[in-house]
Amino acid sequence: MDITNQNVTTSMPRIGDKAPSFKAVTTQGDINFPEDYSGKWVILFSHPADFTPVCTSEFMTFATMEKQFEEANCKLVGLSVDGLYSHIAWLRTIKEKIEYKGMKNVEVNFPLIEDITMNVARAYGMLQPGESTTKAVRAVFFIDPKGVIRTIIYYPLSVGRNFDELYRVLIALKTTEEFSVASPADWRPGDDVIIPTAGSCGTAKNRMEGKEKDMKCYDWFFCTKPITKEEVFKKVLNKK
Ligand code: BEZ
Repeated sequence: MDITNQNVTTSMPRIGDKAPSFKAVTTQGDINFPEDYSGKWVILFSHPADFTPVCTSEFMTFATMEKQFEEANCKLVGLSVDGLYSHIAWLRTIKEKIEYKGMKNVEVNFPLIEDITMNVARAYGMLQPGESTTKAVRAVFFIDPKGVIRTIIYYPLSVGRNFDELYRVLIALKTTEEFSVASPADWRPGDDVIIPTAGSCGTAKNRMEGKEKDMKCYDWFFCTKPITKEEVFKKVLNKK
């Protein structure tokens, strides 16, 4: 879907769409996206600008959690409309000078895309002119191993992201797929999951009579079952 606002034309990919392809230069070399990430989950995220405080706090946090995402077979790829030398200088400053909330010597090992042409930002709807015509908003795209967009979250310039929530969403996406269930509000590994409504998973009568193992029904359309934290982690961590 192409949208024009304040003379900026941008496309807005949607959940379920193929991730738009692009080639780009990054702090870790050239990438061919999303093809280079085939078979892996990838979080493509944008930030407004290098050498800004909210973005610095975000990069330090995300870089510190990179191994945790890697264990869930998920790669991180950042983007802003700054150039490569700015990216390199900013990441070096973070490593050499910034100590924040117990994090120091933080090395950002995931690629940061230079997008001075704004072509990638436009293709992913990261430029939202009502918020800024010169900077990308804080967009987060969760892309699955087949290159399909599975979740999109946008934040404005002024609000830093919650990276525990991004990890929670990744694990929820993988869990709901692996176990053919849905996740209720505020779900975390170890909490009960939602059994999809009748048709895909037994009749309403079966469900109400509790004929599915360990099932709990709040009404005919709302049934849950337990999946332990161990079962979740066994299936969704270190798995292709
Ligand atoms: C920041 O990351 O601190 C920031 C970037 C752009 C606009 C406002 C804040």
